[in-house]
Amino acid sequence: MNYSIAIDGPAGSGKSTIAKRLAKDLGFTYVDTGAMYRAIALWALENAPDIKDERLIASHLDEVDIDLEYSEGSQQVILNGENVTDRLRQEETGKAASVVSKQKKVREKLVSIQQKLAGSQSVIMDGRDIGTKVLPDAFLKVFMTASPEVRAKRRFDELTLKGEKCDYEEILKGVKERDHADETRKISPLKPADDAVILDTSVMSEAEVTGEIQRLFEERKRS
Ligand code: DC
Repeated sequence: MNYSIAIDGPAGSGKSTIAKRLAKDLGFTYVDTGAMYRAIALWALENAPDIKDERLIASHLDEVDIDLEYSEGSQQVILNGENVTDRLRQEETGKAASVVSKQKKVREKLVSIQQKLAGSQSVIMDGRDIGTKVLPDAFLKVFMTASPEVRAKRRFDELTLKGEKCDYEEILKGVKERDHADETRKISPLKPADDAVILDTSVMSEAEVTGEIQRLFEERKRS
């Protein structure tokens, strides 16, 4: 039997760290759907004169080929034959992803790829609309959240650790803007599915969150 675990939540809630760890522990495939929106954003930045031009982007989507490969369990995104994984986390790509992810045809294309992936294997998929739209029948749905301040601090620490100069207040402003864009967009806005378990990770450690999701998974398997 194939299982699917949907993990949704805002940027910086810790979704990807937790989902990666759980996928390893459970032997499931990890699918980072944000990376797929980022890959389309990268393509749009390089090929579209205006990434907000929804009609133009929609008319060229057939030219965008996105594949996921796995190297020692880590997801690699292949955009038109090129491994672009290392370029996806840049700030500019994240901002552009927030723009293209509002576009209907972009969402349709990626949701269809994501549903196919989950149809053939056990997956842990993280994103914004996994429990509500991509996998409405997921075996377990978790909505992870944390206060904007905690999420901004996590991002600040991550960048500082990498030696990048950054400003906490600027990051906090960015976090709030991204939340607003994700929560108020017309198609598939960020919100918990009615049957999702909500986990506020503001005061939970990584091990506590992983343990809690594993417990929920086992509990559901028994019932
Ligand atoms: O999780 P992330 O920062 O990599 O996501 C990048 C952008 O893509 C972000 O603005 C939210 C959007 N996104 C989405 O709309 N739906 C998803 N399933 C995943 C990400």
